[in-house]
Amino acid sequence: MSWKITILCENTVPRPGLLGEHGFAAYVETPDGNILFDTGQGFSLVQNALRLQKDLRQVSQLVLSHGHFDHTGGLLAFLGLHGPCDIAAHPDVLSERFRWMPQGPEEKPVSIGIPWREAYITSRGARFQWHTSFTEIARNVFVTGEVPRQSPFETGDPKFVVRRDGEWVPDPLLDDCSMVLKTPQGLVIILGCAHAGVVNILDHVVAKTGEDRIYAILGGTHLGFSAETQLEQTIKALKKYHIELLAPSHCTGQHPVARLAAEFGKGFAFGHVGFVLGLMS
Ligand SMILES: [Fe+2]
Ligand SMILES: [Fe+2]
Repeated sequence: MSWKITILCENTVPRPGLLGEHGFAAYVETPDGNILFDTGQGFSLVQNALRLQKDLRQVSQLVLSHGHFDHTGGLLAFLGLHGPCDIAAHPDVLSERFRWMPQGPEEKPVSIGIPWREAYITSRGARFQWHTSFTEIARNVFVTGEVPRQSPFETGDPKFVVRRDGEWVPDPLLDDCSMVLKTPQGLVIILGCAHAGVVNILDHVVAKTGEDRIYAILGGTHLGFSAETQLEQTIKALKKYHIELLAPSHCTGQHPVARLAAEFGKGFAFGHVGFVLGLMS
């Protein structure tokens, strides 16, 4: 058996019969079983899984990268097909959170968290396993847990807020977790939105695994919502790592994707719906 990652939900579609949406989900086949990473907003997960012949009933667990609706919105559709399922996540995945967005002539905080409360989700079969630190959740499969914010240029998206004592304060997004596969070819890192910062995540993963061969990075980088300087500094920092393949998706945004494609050349791929990365075990 080998490893295979198939992107099920993403913003772009390269061919007919698949649906695009602002969101992310990936179907991860490992030598020991299948894992679903995120669920998109809920519009495309089931349709794209059917079309790409990835059986959502045949996964042993779901990993949620963080609580934003564009990663958790397909959760009930997934549980409806699968039945009760273990879900690896950080406990803040259930918290209420908001983003400042245009509402008529002004900006207001709009709810962007997981669309349901814990009691309802668990009544539909969710069995949460909480992880706040780097943990092996299946053989050679890890979740990062909380990622230390150390790089000076990964300052996050100031529009994300939570309510504390009646005030809007920055959302620390401690629940932002990535998934790490330890394969014979090196590490494969699957990002949700990388709200912790791609470079912070890489530094954390390398420190925790003791492995610096990074075979591939897939998923959202949130560079599309970050300052131009963050993109430039991130490119510099990524080049210090030995990365075979960079396949950014989702909240990376079109302009940063174009920059990354130009910078990484043959080491770049578009991480769109239907993208497949296969590795030998
Ligand atoms: Fe996202
Ligand atoms: Fe997000």
